[in-house]
Amino acid sequence: MGILTEAMQQALTEQRLIFVATVCPDGTPNLSPKGTVMVWDDDHVLFTDLASPGTMRNLENNPAVEINTLDVFARKGYRFKGIAKIHRGDAVFDTVVDRMRTGTATLQGLADSVRAIALIRVEQALPLVSPGYWGGATEADMRRQYEAYWSEINAEWHSGQDAG
Ligand SMILES: Cc1cc2nc3c(=O)[nH]c(=O)nc-3n(C[C@H](O)[C@H](O)[C@H](O)COP(=O)(O)O)c2cc1C
Repeated sequence: MGILTEAMQQALTEQRLIFVATVCPDGTPNLSPKGTVMVWDDDHVLFTDLASPGTMRNLENNPAVEINTLDVFARKGYRFKGIAKIHRGDAVFDTVVDRMRTGTATLQGLADSVRAIALIRVEQALPLVSPGYWGGATEADMRRQYEAYWSEINAEWHSGQDAG
């Protein structure tokens, strides 16, 4: 077993979203979301470059990267630190694009737009848990609370659409 536990791999696969932090040449942080996250194996996670010139430029100069993923209902997630390697026009690139072609309709639609793969070797993996749990809430409590919260937000959004 590598550094990525089954629970971590499941979270990365299920959430379909990571936030990727890289270091700019002037030392300032760069943070942006990537929905094309995939687990490669027990030690590696990847995302595809579709529209991420800043992230990719930073990784070419400095491969240090931190990513996180969060379940907004459970208010839990993981953070991963690692080293990224960029793949273009090689076997890794082809394998990932093939996986997209058999994935969700959204991934299928994006497969031809992939410019590169950032394959991250994870060196540190840590859980993220909201301080909202400190009062003794269980994960079931938290999920109920945030399901109600988000369904209210969504209902308001839909009623705004209907009114328009
Ligand atoms: C939900 C969401 C998912 C995204 N997924 C990706 C992705 O998988 N790959 C990508 O290149 N851009 C993706 N983007 C777009 C980039 O985050 C966006 O173009 C960003 O400005 C790139 O910044 P950067 O050049 O600093 O990386 C996504 C954006 C959102 C909002």
